[in-house]
Amino acid sequence: MSETKGKVIQCKAAVCWEARKPLTIETVEVAPPRGGEVRVRIAYTGICHSDAHILNGCISAKLPVILGHEAAGIVESVGDGVTNFEEGDHVMLMFLPECNQCRCCTSGKTGCCEVFMDKNYANGLLMDGTSRFTIKGKTLYHFFDTSTFSQYTVVPAISLVKINPAAPMEKVCILSCGIATGYGTAVNTAPVTPGSVCAVWGCGCIGLACIMGCKAAGAARIIGIDINPEKIENAKKFGITEGINPLDYEKPINEVLKEMTNGGLDFTFECVGTTKTMEQAFMSLHKGWGKLCVVGLAPDGDTIKVPPFELLYGRSITGALYGDFRRSKQVPDLVNMYMRGEIMLDEFITHTMPLDRINEAFDLMRDGKR
Ligand SMILES: NC(=O)c1ccc[n+]([C@@H]2O[C@H](COP(=O)([O-])OP(=O)(O)OC[C@H]3O[C@@H](n4cnc5c(N)ncnc54)[C@H](O)[C@@H]3O)[C@@H](O)[C@H]2O)c1
Ligand SMILES: [Zn+2]
Ligand SMILES: [Zn+2]
Repeated sequence: MSETKGKVIQCKAAVCWEARKPLTIETVEVAPPRGGEVRVRIAYTGICHSDAHILNGCISAKLPVILGHEAAGIVESVGDGVTNFEEGDHVMLMFLPECNQCRCCTSGKTGCCEVFMDKNYANGLLMDGTSRFTIKGKTLYHFFDTSTFSQYTVVPAISLVKINPAAPMEKVCILSCGIATGYGTAVNTAPVTPGSVCAVWGCGCIGLACIMGCKAAGAARIIGIDINPEKIENAKKFGITEGINPLDYEKPINEVLKEMTNGGLDFTFECVGTTKTMEQAFMSLHKGWGKLCVVGLAPDGDTIKVPPFELLYGRSITGALYGDFRRSKQVPDLVNMYMRGEIMLDEFITHTMPLDRINEAFDLMRDGKR
């Protein structure tokens, strides 16, 4: 049994005190898990643009908060009633829980879970309305019930997936958000059909994973769209057949794309997170069947404008969280697919750093270097 079981753990965490300010590395206290919860020692975490949305103030959160939602780690201890995890299990943390009891989880039709839709994540508290984190006696808030920018965290058991202990956690941790999200949107949400013509807005982590999914699904053409030429260049190794930079054109990008594709795209994917790019991706669809899959998170309160007649012409819009993957059944498979060399992960990892250099990692993301 771990020496720390049942005790408060003091450890390092990156704390966000204020939006638009660097994170600070602090010593925080992490209380033991309560009923239905698990305390995890984080081994590796990725950074995702969804964390950056809080940092740059586009999406609000209760502060001070420990951000981070893409990670792999080892179970330190479990709370009452947790029977499916035990100390020493290798796990991945999931921002999208899976209760396996709600109407969504039991429908077999969606990867979404009503717990996620019904819970007020903005209050930064776990299911019972309290926090397990404190800093100098003050409450510190959770983020998406995961808070992975900490050496230890407490999460609901429904936000964890057990993985193959032989898997390298420094690699597979990125399957906990970005890669599965992009890849799954192409193979599950769309799903892309062989021979189809696809376009992906944003060649960051999510967009590249989506491109990898389009390729795996047998798309004939995959057009990568980004305003950063380096991102387009890099996207070639993930499977784009063409790349375009909207800044190189005077015409609206949807007109450029319609000309390039003889009438429009079969599938478009918005992996940036602005309503403008969502509208562009919709207007680039082929009449009759074109489908837009929204992946990006737009700022709080923004809405998209779509001429309703375009829907009558048979175009459609959908979207998904976490690429519609069923966490407990499919995430262990994704890990094993990587182990068998069937999906790329190494190519997505641009830098590896200790926790105390986390601000540098966000600077690299902002400057388009990761
Ligand atoms: N649906 C989900 O479950 C889910 C999960 C994770 C992340 N997300 C969201 O997905 C989005 C992308 O995340 P990421 O980590 O890949 O971000 P990222 O910063 O790595 O990539 C974004 C890319 O978009 C490009 N870009 C910016 N403006 C553009 C424009 N006008 N046209 C074309 N390209 C443009 C940037 O140059 C960059 O390459 C974010 O909004 C994030 O919050 C959604
Ligand atoms: Zn994410
Ligand atoms: Zn559920």
